[in-house]
Amino acid sequence: MPTLKPPGLKVIAIDGPAGSGKSTVARAVAAKLGMPYLDTGAMYRAVAFSAIRRGIDPEDAATVAKLAREMELEVADRVMVDDVDATIEIRSPEVTRAVSVVAVNPEVRKELVRRQREWAEREGSGVIEGRDIGTVVFPEAPVKVYMTASDEERAQRRSQELLDMHYDEVAADIARRDHIDSTREHAPLAVAPDAVVVDTTASTVEEVVELVLTLAAKAGLG
Ligand code: CDP
Repeated sequence: MPTLKPPGLKVIAIDGPAGSGKSTVARAVAAKLGMPYLDTGAMYRAVAFSAIRRGIDPEDAATVAKLAREMELEVADRVMVDDVDATIEIRSPEVTRAVSVVAVNPEVRKELVRRQREWAEREGSGVIEGRDIGTVVFPEAPVKVYMTASDEERAQRRSQELLDMHYDEVAADIARRDHIDSTREHAPLAVAPDAVVVDTTASTVEEVVELVLTLAAKAGLG
């Protein structure tokens, strides 16, 4: 896949596993800098949601890839899938269970990466979060942050958000997805060689936001 290399690509790439705090930080950084924000995890979730809704087996790679190419998808404050508001449902346990299988599918990845690059080109700048943003989607991003936290802290944070799931269930789900996401063949979750690794286990959101803003300022963004 050709990479997007416009001079002065204004992308802040934030990658990391579930519960590392990347969504909270990415949103806050985007708001501070007046930059648009893209949650690429929501895009993979939307494909999984659409497959389930249409009775397609998430493991059926060819049919799911076709769906990804043909679906209408808008990821902003609301997540719209073919005119259905899926904002809440893409976070359901059912979608969460299916999403990593969908994200293993190279044809789905190819299509979503294409849409992510198109989004950045259209917006002109952006804070983009995911698993492969600094490694694959925007290897030329001037700011790359890889956020992480201890397994316990990540499970703790996520179980506070998902009130209907017990800590043990959340911890098991995160461990399962960490494993699939980091061992898959295409675009696995990995630290880009030039990313700044931030362990957020003992940090406040404000501290991490400040750090990313400092990196952005050094790179001439904001
Ligand atoms: O919010 P959470 O960290 O639970 O996950 P997410 O960011 O919503 O992403 C859901 C899933 O999508 C991940 O577990 C990955 O399997 C996949 N994903 C990916 O493969 N590549 C991305 N750039 C973003 C998400």
